[in-house]
Amino acid sequence: MEKSSGLRVILFPLPIQGCINPMIQLAKILHSRGFSITVIHTHFNAPKASSHPLFTFLEIPDGLSETEKRTDDKTFLFTLLNQRCEAPFRDFLAKLLVSSDSETQRISCLIHDSGWTFTPSVTKGLKLPRLVLSTYTVSFFLNHFSLPKLRREVSQDSEQDDLVQEFPPLREKDLVRLLKEKREYLEPYLNMMLEATKSSSGIIFMSCEELNQDSLRKAREDFKVPIYAIEPSFSNFPASSSSLFTQDETCIPWLDKQEDKSVIYVSFGSLATMTGPELIEIACGLRNSGQPFLLVVRVGSVKGTEWIEAIPEELMAKVNEKGKIVKWAPQQEVLKHRAVGGFLTHNGWNSVVESVCEGVPMICLPFIWDQFLNARLVSGVWRVGLHLEHRIESNEIESSIRSLFYGDEGDAIRERMRLLKEKVGRSVKENDGLSDTETRSHDINLMLTI
Ligand code: UDX
Repeated sequence: MEKSSGLRVILFPLPIQGCINPMIQLAKILHSRGFSITVIHTHFNAPKASSHPLFTFLEIPDGLSETEKRTDDKTFLFTLLNQRCEAPFRDFLAKLLVSSDSETQRISCLIHDSGWTFTPSVTKGLKLPRLVLSTYTVSFFLNHFSLPKLRREVSQDSEQDDLVQEFPPLREKDLVRLLKEKREYLEPYLNMMLEATKSSSGIIFMSCEELNQDSLRKAREDFKVPIYAIEPSFSNFPASSSSLFTQDETCIPWLDKQEDKSVIYVSFGSLATMTGPELIEIACGLRNSGQPFLLVVRVGSVKGTEWIEAIPEELMAKVNEKGKIVKWAPQQEVLKHRAVGGFLTHNGWNSVVESVCEGVPMICLPFIWDQFLNARLVSGVWRVGLHLEHRIESNEIESSIRSLFYGDEGDAIRERMRLLKEKVGRSVKENDGLSDTETRSHDINLMLTI
């Protein structure tokens, strides 16, 4: 670890798993470069402070009711959080600045998730530099500000495969699914996010040139602020310590008993929900494929039930012959395991990057929001996965697993994935966790010491 810089950085993640992991990864990188770290977080989905004894954690009240926490409309949830957290956040930050106003403990910067839109008004008054962390892939972040306009233009029942010209490589049918639940809160929320990003001192993405070259260039042109990238260096800075759920460690001894590259790992992240019949289709498809499988079913992710009660006893007995179902897995360890040969995924950006880093080919089944675009990057641009085209049907799942493990297409996908993993791995070694995307240097250290 480098010597302390005498500077403290304040981090403010959005309270969902897919946003907490990259923020904590960033905290670990900055700490390794000598910065002290304070994480301000909501009561809702609070990260486990005890897992990070070297950081300071401060909790602010969020005022969410139990019903509000469970809403499926995440834009509504984030709008509420922004309304309710502004005043407590302002108070906490002002107090921190007063109490640390000395040469040994200077606060140099706030880094917040792009989903916190009230922050400009707070930091402007306090004269504190502010960086934005986007946990989306770069092209989704750049283009998603045009979603309200696209909603007005594209027919809402389109099943077309046509590319959305302003949002490649998204297809019209993806766009319709993506916009299904989001209504009146979307436009004002995105406008505020855009303003907060434009007025920031810089943007940080979890990416690297190998995955997002053109979009990183476009981000520099569009926003005219420095653009940084957290390189996907999970071996040095793993995300598992920031898990909000208890990881079922029995996955690893179970994987130890399986043959090399034989297991299909199945997980749909921290937000996606499905119906009971959809879970049955998935379980049947996995079972009929004949491959051993590790299926993660998050508690509360199957509508109307607690966990996996929807699976009938008879099917469950068959499932148990070759499969294992858990509530939450140590995902990065699972993807790294020699026994895993494929990943049926919802294509959350963290999961995609983790899969690429471990060279595991994917079967894409996106559920919400940015996942639709990520799935097109995986299957259509990098061509390191198959796409289920939104068909949650047992025969489709079965045949896609067979193609991935045994077909010619599967061989080609595996070879492309091997090359992509190598390219990304080289880039990560060169840049040591975090870099300025233009100079590919460590300029962010300078930026944070201003
Ligand atoms: C969502 C979006 O889809 C994502 O693109 C956005 O950036 C954040 O919000 P989420 O559904 O949580 O994220 O998916 P993902 O981005 O893949 O993040 C999930 C994280 O949880 C990953 O780091 C993964 O390793 C971890 N995980 C998942 C586990 O540790 N165990 C599991 O069983 C499942």
